[in-house]
Amino acid sequence: MERENWTSRLGFILAASGSAIGLGNIWRFPFVTGTNGGAIFILIYLAAILFIGYPILVSEMSLGRKTAKNPIGAFKSLAPNTSWYLVGALGVLSGFVILSYYSVVAGWGMSYIFKSLTFNVDSNFPQIFSSHISSLTEPILWHGVFMFLTIAVIGAGIVNGIQKIVKILMPILFGIIFLLIIRSVTLEGSAAGLIFYLKPDFSAISFQTFTDAISQAFFTLSLGMGAIITYGSYLSDKESINESAAYVLAFDTAVALLAGFAIFPAVFAFGLDPASGPGLTFITLPAVFTQMPFGTFFSLIFFLLLTIAALTSSISMLEVVVAFLVDEHNWNRKKASYLIGFLIFLVGIPPLLGYSSFSNFSFLGMNVLDTYDWFSNSIFLPTGGILTSIFVGHIWGSSNAIKEANKNSRFHIGSIYSLLLKYIVPAAVLFIMLFTIYQTI
Ligand code: PHE
Ligand code: NA
Repeated sequence: MERENWTSRLGFILAASGSAIGLGNIWRFPFVTGTNGGAIFILIYLAAILFIGYPILVSEMSLGRKTAKNPIGAFKSLAPNTSWYLVGALGVLSGFVILSYYSVVAGWGMSYIFKSLTFNVDSNFPQIFSSHISSLTEPILWHGVFMFLTIAVIGAGIVNGIQKIVKILMPILFGIIFLLIIRSVTLEGSAAGLIFYLKPDFSAISFQTFTDAISQAFFTLSLGMGAIITYGSYLSDKESINESAAYVLAFDTAVALLAGFAIFPAVFAFGLDPASGPGLTFITLPAVFTQMPFGTFFSLIFFLLLTIAALTSSISMLEVVVAFLVDEHNWNRKKASYLIGFLIFLVGIPPLLGYSSFSNFSFLGMNVLDTYDWFSNSIFLPTGGILTSIFVGHIWGSSNAIKEANKNSRFHIGSIYSLLLKYIVPAAVLFIMLFTIYQTI
């Protein structure tokens, strides 16, 4: 079968932004900002996005478009008969692992949409999370529903599946965010939240701030696992990579920052803790919704937002694995989607159990969901990012990547990109990665 292409630049930008904008923006960014002291974290994060994120984003898009292949095929075609294809294989493995627990968290969010409707929000919302995880059928059901939606989109293909769904969902996503912000900043007492969010407290800086900022930059831009290589492989030669990458980076950053504007003012308005960690959106925020006027409605649209963001990302993870099987092994797309999607559903069961009150399922002293998250964010994505930048910088050659990225672009990248990609990105990310591993062990 002929390999598909996005039918327009907008299609690609929306799909890649959809991949980037996800739980990373709505769930992870706010809680990591919260635990790292607010505004000061944001400054360091923005530097990480610009100096580490953008060069890798451009490199992955260029690798994909140049080869028109899945990640394994892309490395194989630029460096035949070498072991570099293993970088692509690591990406396929990351897709498997990350999607499996991503879907569990997305499933929590989905169940909250319906809980907003059926529960008496005014009295018992804060207890929802504990009641949710005290049952097994509920989390498994929603994890299954979410994986099924992901599979259905990917099974339908690039134009009729991914491109169609992002064109519908991304505008809804932006609309919801604005409604939430208006609600949040008009609450009495919200100013304290704005100060926490906008006024940097330099005493809150630590090494952790840097490691968290860099790993958040990878996760949020979908880097280091081939998702952007794969989406780039469906981009036509007529479109500009530099410009598309700049749009994706801008949209992703905007949504993360806006999510903070929707969350922190409301959290402070009700005197709750901004540093509550992963529970910020699932425990703290619902407690906020119970107390605010029209809480049911805002709770409903918030969790709809979370689900939409998650779905447009999860499809990009599944696409990495499916594209590999379709390109390299001539599998039928539908068959690959259903089979791999089902396997990923199963791989998600241990982290799901890890959060259930039925078991104390743990590994390396961490809850299994946190273990999966730790391996993905501290090992897989940085390793993928380091090796991709070394490959593009030194093996394929930064001048080739620059040529690909500058094609039909109104602005050009050159020596700064080259310098960042060849030396600064790999060195900085390696240093941070080794330090994190050392710290954990
Ligand atoms: N970027 C997505 C988010 O912010 C997560 C993701 C990671 C998607 C890796 C694809 C690949 O939620
Ligand atoms: Na993101």
